[in-house]
Order: sequence, then C-alpha cells, then structure tokens
Amino acid sequence: MRKERCWNNLMGAAAKSAALSLCVVVLAGAGFGQSLSGRWMQPGKTLDNGEQQKWILELKQNGNDLTGTLKSLDYGVDLKGTAAGNHFELFASWEPTRPFLTGDLVNGELHGMERGRRPVLAKPAAAADDISTVSYIEPPPLHNVPDNGLAKTPPMGWNSWNLFAGRIDDQTVRTMADALVSSGMRDAGYIYLNIDDTWEGVRDAQGNLQSNHKFPDMKALADYVHSKGLKLGIYSGPGPRTCAGYPASYGHEEQDAKTWAAWGVDYLKYDWCSARNVYKNDALQPVYQKMGDALRATGRPIVYSLCEYGWGSVEKWGPAVGGNLWRTTGDIRDEWSSMIGDVEKQVPTAPFAGPGHWNDPDMLEIGNGHMTDDEYRTHMSLWALVASPLLAGNDVRTMTDATKAILLNKEVIAIDQDPLGKQASPVKNGDLETWVKPLANGGVAVGVVNLGSAAALTTVKASDLGLGGPVKNARDLWAHQDVTFSSGVYSATVASHGVLLLRVSAK
Ligand code: GLA
Repeated sequence: MRKERCWNNLMGAAAKSAALSLCVVVLAGAGFGQSLSGRWMQPGKTLDNGEQQKWILELKQNGNDLTGTLKSLDYGVDLKGTAAGNHFELFASWEPTRPFLTGDLVNGELHGMERGRRPVLAKPAAAADDISTVSYIEPPPLHNVPDNGLAKTPPMGWNSWNLFAGRIDDQTVRTMADALVSSGMRDAGYIYLNIDDTWEGVRDAQGNLQSNHKFPDMKALADYVHSKGLKLGIYSGPGPRTCAGYPASYGHEEQDAKTWAAWGVDYLKYDWCSARNVYKNDALQPVYQKMGDALRATGRPIVYSLCEYGWGSVEKWGPAVGGNLWRTTGDIRDEWSSMIGDVEKQVPTAPFAGPGHWNDPDMLEIGNGHMTDDEYRTHMSLWALVASPLLAGNDVRTMTDATKAILLNKEVIAIDQDPLGKQASPVKNGDLETWVKPLANGGVAVGVVNLGSAAALTTVKASDLGLGGPVKNARDLWAHQDVTFSSGVYSATVASHGVLLLRVSAK
C-alpha cells in the first residue's frame, strides 16, 4: 500500500498540490540539439482499467528562459524556469520559490531530480503520446438543492482508502461486510461500507461508466452488502479524472448518478482532484451543486459527501448544494501530528455543523498501527466531540481487542451521534486542551487532551462546562465508570497524548 502511495501522491496531486511527488519520471525529448524545447514523456503504471498513466512534459526554451507544462491523466501544472548550458531549473506556478524539477540534458535525455528528492530520467515523446484535453463546461447558475433528509447524525461506516488504497476489490469488500457484522460494528452503527478510488473502469459506447476487473458486478456486490444490513458507498469526482487517475464524472454527472442509483449505491464521496485543472475555486459551489442535483434526480436516497479539502469555505455553502458532509482538511495520515492537526484545523467551522450537514476532518486511522492506543483513544474521542463522521479505515477482519474496545465504545459513539449535533470547540491551557460539546439532554461531553510528552493532572471545573445547574451525574467514558465532582471539580491524570472523556449531566 505504501509503495502504491508513492504513485498516488503523484496521481492524487490535485488533492495535495504541495505534496506532489514525482516518483520516477522518465522524460524523453526528441530533436533538440542543445535545446530543451520539445515534448518529453514518462510512461506510468497501467491502471486497473487497462489505461496507461503517463507524464508529458512540454518545454519551450527561449535563450535562458524555459516555460512549459507537466500533464498526467489527472494532473496539470504550469512550469517556468531557466536553462544554463545543459542545466535546467523549473518552478511550479504554485510554488515559485522552490524548484519543482532540476536537471541536465545528457545524451538526449533529461536527468535530474523532482523537488530535490526523486530522480528524473528523460526520453522523447512520440506523436501518439498525448493527454487528451477536455472542453470547458460552464458551471450552472446557483440555486438551493433541497435537503435530502439524510445523515441526521454523522454518518458511520468504513472506507477502503486509508488501508487498502488501490488494492480494494469485490472480495475484500464482501469479507469486510461480513466482518462489520461479526465484529458488532454494524450493530454499533457503522452502516456505510464505502468503496473509495480505483473501482472505475472505462466508459462504454453510450458513455456509461463501468467498474474495472476488480469489481466484476457492482449490482451484485451492492445486493450482497444490503443483504448484510449495510449500505454501499462509492467514489467519484467532478473533474475528468479521480485523484488516482481513473475516469471521473466531468460531463457525465446525471448519467453516473443514474448508474450508481441502479446499482443500489447509498453514499457518494465526490473528490475535487482534477477538477482544478478545469475550474478555479470560485466554481466549487456550482460544480458540486451539479452532482447534488443529479443525485436528487435519481430519486434514491444517497448521502452526498463533498471532498474538496475545505477549500472555498465549503462549510458555508455545503448544505445549499445538497451536501451532507464535507472534508475540512487534506488527507489524514496514521500519525499523531496529522490527526491532531486535522481536528484543530476545523475549529472555525464549528458553527456550521448540525443535523444533516457535518464537517469532516477525514476518516479514522484507529487500528492501522502507527499511533499508540492512547493516541487512538484521543482520535476517537475528538472525532466524537466534534461530531465528525466515523468512518473506520482499518482492517475490521483482524482487529485487536484494543482496537475493538476503541471503535466499539458505545458510550463514545453516543457522544458523536448525539441528536443535537453540536461540534465541540477547544480551550487551551498549556499542554491541556479541553473540548466541551453540549448534548441534547442538557448535559455535556468534556474531553481533556494532553498534547504534552508527560502525564499531566487536569482539573475539570463544573462552572466551566456551561451546565444549567449543579452536576447530577458524571461518567468517565473510557474507564466506563461513574466519577464524582466534589465541590464542583473533578481531577484526574491524563497520559501523554491521552484523553479524559467525561459525560456530565446537570440537575
Ligand atoms: C484524495 C482524497 C482521499 C482519497 C484519495 C483517492 O486524496 O482526499 O481521501 O479519496 O483521493 O485517490
């Protein structure tokens, strides 16, 4: 999977412009003498739909000045730079201070480095080596897409990307469905089984998008998932290509929505990716609205998950395009700094969360092995406190008892699923960060996270919790036991990167 990530970083560059990584670029140029002008090409990997990924670098040299573009199936970037003798330096339009590509012309090949990290090697592009361009489709005028009535509490389920990336297939989805049932995850609320990127095939003669060889019969798979009491999610995007380079829904919005509805799809994650090669950020709302309308027109209840990394203040217009949730950040990684960074980034969006429309700091990494159990308990607690979707991203077929105890903690899930739908906000005091979430019954959930590297004592004061009266009952949701506030305070030691999570009700 991590090997695959290397390619995906490149192919998913629309989502991660700053993290673009050219794993190995073989660029080839023809007929240049000492000039760098020309078209250079690297074949990439063959996608699961049989298409060949490739990178075309088109350069124009004028004296010492170089201009050009780099294009792949899903990505395009303008480049500008200089040539001095055989040496060249190129800068991406989004990062004018750090070279994107540096290298030398050696025996008719370009040899160099991408972003100082990855080797580049070069050859001439043949006439047939091209990336087809799409014609511009004007975004529609704005209107309000009526609320679909779904996701009254944050959606819960499982998504394939964090662990499987491009290795997801029909069999894995089926065994995951079985495991969601046998592990008790389904009964705890994890209902949506979401297939992320790399399921896509090619379009048939009528333009219908088919699944690739890894998913021989999507309708049959949906039937299987439904027979287990689960719902099926799928992935696409408004650009011509997904982040992994597969065909996406540009110009086929209604047709694709109909296809998914006919398969029995219940949830769509719609990822901006290559749409940024076509549209500027001011088109985010109308472009997302287009799919909101298309889903609605199918007549099937389909949860609509916007994935555009929090760009363009999505929390302000997400509901108007029919969105039920929207990502507020880039991609989560299975590490403490990424997890904490994501949840802190969405603090300003708190007023916009509520029944039917949720801020999404990305899927869970619990159980994927690169954080401690304390850190995973903090991850789960924070996602519950901020009313985030709970989409597990681990292998639910082989969970340790510790992972099960975290993902299946019903008292914590109840905080996430509280019908009032409020998103907690934090107050920082040294290394301790206290998040308070008002609950429907007038009580609160309070989480104290220890960001420091040593255990620390915390004192929770009832007077800070905004309760309507004195504490009636308080419970530690990880220890699963009632605790007592004496004289209006409760003190406990919190492990480094750990959490104290209480549910407190008022008289
Ligand atoms: C983007 C998204 C991820 C995942 C990948 C799939 O990076 O943010 O969550 O869907 O694309 O290519």
